[in-house]
Amino acid sequence: MQRIGILTGGGDCPGLNSVIRAVVRKGYNEGYEIIGIKNGWKGLIEADFTKLDLTSVSGILPKGGTILGTSRTNPYKKETDLEKLKQNFKNLELYALVAVGGEDTLGVAARLIKDGITNIVGVPKTIDNDLSCTDYTFGFDTAINIATECIDRLHTTAESHHRIIVVEVMGRHAGWIATSAGIAGGADVILIPEIPIDIDEVCNLIKKRHNRGKTFSIIVVAEGAKFKEGSLITQEEKLDEFGHVRLGGIGDIVAKEVEKRTGFETRVSVLGHIQRGGSPTAFDRILGTRFGIKAVELIKQKKFGRMVALSGNKIIDVDINEATKELKTVDMELYNIAKEFFG
Ligand code: F6P
Repeated sequence: MQRIGILTGGGDCPGLNSVIRAVVRKGYNEGYEIIGIKNGWKGLIEADFTKLDLTSVSGILPKGGTILGTSRTNPYKKETDLEKLKQNFKNLELYALVAVGGEDTLGVAARLIKDGITNIVGVPKTIDNDLSCTDYTFGFDTAINIATECIDRLHTTAESHHRIIVVEVMGRHAGWIATSAGIAGGADVILIPEIPIDIDEVCNLIKKRHNRGKTFSIIVVAEGAKFKEGSLITQEEKLDEFGHVRLGGIGDIVAKEVEKRTGFETRVSVLGHIQRGGSPTAFDRILGTRFGIKAVELIKQKKFGRMVALSGNKIIDVDINEATKELKTVDMELYNIAKEFFG
């Protein structure tokens, strides 16, 4: 019996368990044995795994997070880790591996393929929706639904207290969550990493709105948004294993600046990991399920080095190198729609 491994790496994400369940169910139907590698690439370095059968994936569909655990461990950080990983791939007698992750996890997969661990297929995951070559990643739909509900709830307080509320959402390099939840929640200004913040412009929009009789406003800001060049405002810079800055705090800075410049009472609400937690939406469960099934089909067809993807309403497969080459930033057509409602 050929053995398939599956791992989930990077930030946890609603819908991961639907992929695991689909890989196990489809894998068994096709006659494969499935093992779950624990905690992303870390599990393959440490040979930490668990056998997955139909019982292990029973009842996990509505659960958030990942039953396999995750980590941001990068095996390319340490030569010895990489050697251990390669050795364990052999020792565990893996015929193929399904790597479920975002740009970092799949970037490692692409490098491993080049380094001779060829039998890998990728499944795109991230609430940020910033992976190329796929229209959507699972997790994003859940995140924007949570963020939209939060914006709705924050409207209540903003309106009753005549305040401005700055809502900080996730979105490291791309403002998909901010733009989408901002449109759905009726934000009055949306700030994203793709467009440097001009704080004067933000304040003018808010003042314009208040001049026409509105006494409250909602500003949605993506955590990765940055001020225009020349700004004196600085952010703390702690790095993770992939060299990414640990974000968070831009909402606070925007709130202080807006209050100072407009004189309107301002509060901030940082949604943080709430956006990544809890049960996935039906859309994310279905997408994760379709991705998982396709991943096993690719293995069966020996189509390695591919990433499953959504194109329109079809599940396709794309070159994993293409998918990890550059990030998919916000479509300006969508952002321009949001802008019609600013101020
Ligand atoms: O990769 C998804 C993401 O949620 C980003 O939006 C965010 O910047 C990052 O993960 C936060 O990572 P951590 O959970 O390690 O703080």
